[in-house]
Amino acid sequence: MCGIVGYVGNQPVVDILVDGLKQLEYRGYDSSGIAISDGNDIKIYKAEGKLQNLENVLREHRDEIQTAKMGIGHIRWATHGAATLLNAHPHTCNCGKLALVHNGIIENFKELKVNLEKEGCVFRSQTDTEVVAHLIASIYGKVKDLTEAVRLAAQKLEGAYALCVMHKDYPNTLVVTKRNAPLLVGIGDGEMFAASDVPAIIKHTKRAVYLADNQIAVLKADSLNIINSEGQNIDYKVEILPWEPVALSKMGYKHFMLKEIHEQPDVIRNILVGKLHTTDDPVVLNEVKLTRETLKHLNRIQIIACGTSLHAAMIGKYIIETFCGIAVDVEPSSEYIYRRTVTDENTLVIGVSQSGETADTLTAIKQAKAKGSHILIITNRPDSAMAREADSLIPVSAGIEVSVAATKSYVAQVISFYLLAIYMAEIKDSIDASVLKTMKNELMIIPQKIEQILAHKEVIQKCAREYANTKDFIYIARGINYPTALEGALKLKEISYINATGYPAGELKHGPIAMLDETMPVLSILMHGCVYEKILSNSEEAKARNAKLIALTNSTEKKLDDLFDYIIHVPEVHEYLSPVIAIVPLQLLAYYIAEFLGKDVDQPRNLAKSVTVE
Ligand code: F6R
Repeated sequence: MCGIVGYVGNQPVVDILVDGLKQLEYRGYDSSGIAISDGNDIKIYKAEGKLQNLENVLREHRDEIQTAKMGIGHIRWATHGAATLLNAHPHTCNCGKLALVHNGIIENFKELKVNLEKEGCVFRSQTDTEVVAHLIASIYGKVKDLTEAVRLAAQKLEGAYALCVMHKDYPNTLVVTKRNAPLLVGIGDGEMFAASDVPAIIKHTKRAVYLADNQIAVLKADSLNIINSEGQNIDYKVEILPWEPVALSKMGYKHFMLKEIHEQPDVIRNILVGKLHTTDDPVVLNEVKLTRETLKHLNRIQIIACGTSLHAAMIGKYIIETFCGIAVDVEPSSEYIYRRTVTDENTLVIGVSQSGETADTLTAIKQAKAKGSHILIITNRPDSAMAREADSLIPVSAGIEVSVAATKSYVAQVISFYLLAIYMAEIKDSIDASVLKTMKNELMIIPQKIEQILAHKEVIQKCAREYANTKDFIYIARGINYPTALEGALKLKEISYINATGYPAGELKHGPIAMLDETMPVLSILMHGCVYEKILSNSEEAKARNAKLIALTNSTEKKLDDLFDYIIHVPEVHEYLSPVIAIVPLQLLAYYIAEFLGKDVDQPRNLAKSVTVE
């Protein structure tokens, strides 16, 4: 989703802004722009589409941009108004002296706009953001102080925002503020940065201040001042970012998604380090702060998440209920937040999020926290807003995930749930110790099994070529792999735009079977376990309606050859851990279909990596 970079210092600003935006590019966007100050004037450059287009524009103005040492940059993912040049940020006021960039959504922009139009403001875009530019400029006209104008304007805004503001009268100052959207200030040597996320600035500094909601920071090359919403100066804590400047490199893979799929064995090894020592030792989760007493008496868990993280949560439910005998509800965050939930201090609420910034999940977590629940966050970003709300944390340590379609972070979330379930089961003594021992052993060897799949991708590539031109795809599974069917279908939808749907196999005959004929591929996730024979029967039902049948299976039974048109074999694995194995060929199938169709695999249309608006 949208990204912000700001800079004030002694270096030519344009390269810093463009490079910062490039580091955020993977999040998904559809236009970009920068505003720079050369000490006299503010100049704005924008482009539709990819950053390359902005670079081309900047190249044409090479001579006039070289001296600028301060500026703001933005990549926009359209919410209000199409992805046009006029709607791209930065936005300005009537006189063009003020420029700003914004992430988030201003919910009361229509009301504000009506009043500003009465004052004579002329709007050029359809965005909510332009309202903020006019609002701050209008207040500035009265108070004649940029920081004060930003502070007073922020009080009139409803919704979510991270704002980075510059003004012609302040050629050496950036003013930034935020509410319910991430923003940090990077402190360099004689230079300051603002960014909506760490990768934009990590090359330049590891020292940063995470702004809290409603704080306003005033950045000059050699000073940083932060005030609260009442205008009082506040002390701030400089943190050392736990990041290395990583080049976002594909390491020889054609796409980040393919690279990230291949990283999964190491991601699992990485997450197990320090948590799972031997099959005889208990699982160690240092940042889980639930007391033994609370865990023993815990009788209800709610898991809240969106998209792929929601599918990981569904596997979490299955495994926690099986191992711990605790009732678990799973709900999409966007549904959780607008109803009366039965959540209280006796409920453990688990939030799952790759980015740790997803607006719906963050809101849900805050609501649950306000009701006194213990909040456990499973995230790939221990420095995120969600992690900051957490009472307990499981960092999934998948490393930065660039591809918009989540793969390695999903597997890492699923593994985190196994660890959590084993951890709780050991404390509660809720399942035979031999089961847990088997699970631990399987967890330790599962990376090798994934490596086996990755070493034999030809079958999946062939299957992808055969089905790439289908319009629809159905995935069926039961039990612990039902979420795998949903996730496999989501992956295909996201990157190939094929209409793919996951169903519990037993539901097929209650409606979806009407769609089946010889044009419809049905992929059965047929893993050994308690529902193996049931899925076989459901596959027969599909075959009887002439559907094209694909099996994803760890079975070598001969009879499958007659039933299925295509078989993708995976290594043998315990039923409980089969989702970790089954998802890998499905990720690859989606990838190869999209690649075969020539789609933009890493940045699919309309999608963003981090969804920071509700
Ligand atoms: C799918 C995908 C999305 C995210 C969802 C939640 O590939 O990436 O469905 O899973 O937007 O994002 P996080 O996990 O960051 O909360």
